[in-house]
Amino acid sequence: MQQVLAMLYLWLKAGHVIFVIFWMAGLFMLPRFFVYHQEAPEGSPENAIWVDRERKLMKIIMWPALVVVWVLGLLLTVSGEWFTQGWFHVKLLAVLVLTAYHFWLAAYAQNLAAGIRKLSGKKLRLLNEIPGVTAAIIVIMVIVKPF
Ligand code: HEM
Repeated sequence: MQQVLAMLYLWLKAGHVIFVIFWMAGLFMLPRFFVYHQEAPEGSPENAIWVDRERKLMKIIMWPALVVVWVLGLLLTVSGEWFTQGWFHVKLLAVLVLTAYHFWLAAYAQNLAAGIRKLSGKKLRLLNEIPGVTAAIIVIMVIVKPF
């Protein structure tokens, strides 16, 4: 029985990391879409194509990936009894930052679809550092478990 549970834990972790990759891909791609989108004239056919691309990226990849990463992550946390670990607290904080960033991107996509272009391309490119730095903190915490 112990062996079955250990194997199940590894399958959970494999699924978790696979959907982490999908989620991260979306978090890096979407701000890029925003940059190119904002180079298209408002109301143009190209503008409508970008609105559609952003909607599909969120609906087909990013929202499902976010849900699966959280569900499998929490299942791993419960079965591994990691709640009290310092590394897990820092990881969870960093994941909450990444999740808040995901919601901000969703709101920005809705604004863009309504023709509201709040940030310059330069600022959007700068924002793309957030998932990179956060993911580095998360992966170091979960693999090295420094405390
Ligand atoms: C959404 C909330 C998340 C929770 C609750 C969570 C929780 C966990 C737990 C408990 C483990 C197993 C640790 C072990 O067995 O050593 C794990 C593994 C892992 N997590 Fe997460 N995680 C979450 C999100 C993320 C995100 C966003 C990333 C990357 C950006 C990530 C990257 C990883 C990696 C790479 C592993 C495998 C570590 C190893 O094999 O040692 N996780 N996660």
